[in-house]
Amino acid sequence: MEDQQTPLFEELKTEDGAFDVQLRPQALTEYIGQKKIKESLSIFIEAAKQRGEALEHVLLSGPPGLGKTTLAHIIAKEMGGTIRVTSGPALERVGDLAAILTNLSDGDILFIDEIHRLNKVLAEALYPAMEDFVLDVILGKGPSARTIRLDLPKFTLIGATTRMSLLSAPLRDRFGNLFHLDFYEHDEIVEILLRSAKILNIQIDANAAVQTAKRARFTPRIANRLLKRVRDYAQVRGSGNATDTLAVEALESLGIDAIGLDSLDRKILMTIIEKFQGGPVGLNTIAASLSEEMETIESVYEPFLMQVGFLSRTPRGRIATEHAYKHLDIPLPIRQNAFL
Ligand code: ADE
Repeated sequence: MEDQQTPLFEELKTEDGAFDVQLRPQALTEYIGQKKIKESLSIFIEAAKQRGEALEHVLLSGPPGLGKTTLAHIIAKEMGGTIRVTSGPALERVGDLAAILTNLSDGDILFIDEIHRLNKVLAEALYPAMEDFVLDVILGKGPSARTIRLDLPKFTLIGATTRMSLLSAPLRDRFGNLFHLDFYEHDEIVEILLRSAKILNIQIDANAAVQTAKRARFTPRIANRLLKRVRDYAQVRGSGNATDTLAVEALESLGIDAIGLDSLDRKILMTIIEKFQGGPVGLNTIAASLSEEMETIESVYEPFLMQVGFLSRTPRGRIATEHAYKHLDIPLPIRQNAFL
């Protein structure tokens, strides 16, 4: 298998604007999976609407591509409010936040993606904004500086994070509703693929959807990306109809194996196994060996490798498990048993 391709799952870090929007469910009833979260949200939304209040602030955590942004849009729609979207790294000064917040109306939603990357000054400015709907802005510098207090509308903050552990406790505690999104079930991914195929007018066999789902890392955003590639392949190599054989060929040509590992997944595991005798080895060492960012490996790759049981995190570092050796067809060293 070709292992030189750009890892497909790098794409997980970014959204594919128009494409993701087109496939995004518009209501909780259209949203597939995350059953417990949907149930809780629908009750909280209904209760807030009955009381004529804004929804309590919501924190959504979990690996990328599972639908945090989608849920934020759905919440805004169900609450009948407007959503304003920004991200932790995009906000630099309290003034940036003031400009956004003062333009909201009661019941509107402010969505801050990657909220763990918000700087400390801004995170602290958010506390009174979230609790008392006021924002203190310092005007000027030095001895003539003064603080003005701005009254804010009764907005709902929805924060999303792939790195819950990096969020400060005071910020986390100010969210009334905390939800962790888990990987989807295989059947849910099949259902999402069939729904997307219908929206995009793609002819796909049920078996092709199953084969695509198997390689989609239990992640809707990946499932939808793979679907597009299967469509292209079926159009050029077949008659336009995606059969399971064509789907498998398309996905193999992308360097994705039978359970969804891409080239970088394999490189991570091979590095641990070949260079570090299976581990334990620190994340920074793995990242340096591969010239990859630690953040990418930790928030994009590791959650899935742990989900499929190929990697474990220990206080002494990362370990490739027996399952990983078997999957990569590498004989298990005797010493390895000590770690399993
Ligand atoms: N498209 C992407 N994520 C989805 C989901 N959870 N439900 C339905 N369609 C989706």
